[in-house]
Amino acid sequence: MTSAHESMVSAAIAAIGAAASTVELKAIHAAHLGKQAPLTKAKSELGNLAPEDRKAAGQALNTARKTVEAALAEAEQSMARAELDAQLATETMDLTEIPSGTSVGHAHIVAQAWEELEDVFVGMGFRVAEGPEVETDWYNFDALNLPPEHPARDGFDTIYVNHGEPGQTVLRTHTSPVQIRTMLDQKPPIYIVAPGRVFRRDTADATHMPVFHQIEGLVVDKGIGLAHLAGTIEAFTTAYFGEGFSSRLRPNHFPFTEPSAEFDIQRPDGSWLELGGCGVVHPHVLRSGGIDPEEYSGFAFGFGIDRLALLKFGVDDLRELFTNDVRFLSQF
Ligand code: DAH
Repeated sequence: MTSAHESMVSAAIAAIGAAASTVELKAIHAAHLGKQAPLTKAKSELGNLAPEDRKAAGQALNTARKTVEAALAEAEQSMARAELDAQLATETMDLTEIPSGTSVGHAHIVAQAWEELEDVFVGMGFRVAEGPEVETDWYNFDALNLPPEHPARDGFDTIYVNHGEPGQTVLRTHTSPVQIRTMLDQKPPIYIVAPGRVFRRDTADATHMPVFHQIEGLVVDKGIGLAHLAGTIEAFTTAYFGEGFSSRLRPNHFPFTEPSAEFDIQRPDGSWLELGGCGVVHPHVLRSGGIDPEEYSGFAFGFGIDRLALLKFGVDDLRELFTNDVRFLSQF
């Protein structure tokens, strides 16, 4: 290399050493090896030399160019790796920690109402019981004094499950079959509530859904009568709704209770809300549960949970509860 070549090479090496990014290296590449670069121009000047000097000068120029190319390639490679490492470091997410300020969600409003009802009844001395959502026709109907030809069966709009004998397996239409399962499972005294999901062949609208929730109550003990039922409903009303709310029973008919009633809640403004059904447990039902009606008696009640949640949170359409829209759900 001539001293002119050496100074071109050292100028290129100095620029490469000072480069801080791959973008800068690209500019250095153009300045020192591109068309206008001194090393490129020197090549076209080789023709001006005497023929005997050309070969040596050409080789020297080639060596100079190769030195710069090698230095650039090495710098480009290590710079690219450093930039990638830096990018990965800034984009790394720590998945072991939930960033502060992130919402973690909360119970659905039906779940909130369900849990609050359980709390109130547990506070009154009840135990929480449960039963399956897929039931046999016997638990859902027969055992509750609704034999196969009973007209009230039609009113339930039952959804049948294709399992076993035709018409023998149903999605439970109410939580009342848990009464039977509990009586067959434990001896009196029985004081239980059974919240759960129930199913009916209904078209969804503002007040109906094919899937909804009920809570069932059952008391079986010695000497239990209608007065205990009325007192329990009244105590529940103040405990759940608050002071200023009261209850009343209105005669009605259910196959599983005799006498039977509907119960309503009166709000402080005097208006009434129909809540559910109740009554003194029918002797046939006690017998289905293996309990002697001569020795024990009881009362039962059942009502919907979804409508309570709607009322409590001021929502006017049942379908809202099932849309799973976070903008709706996060309001409560
Ligand atoms: N099972 C009834 C229904 O789904 C509600 C009901 C009424 C439950 C009277 C009871 C009762 O326990 O005694 O419509």
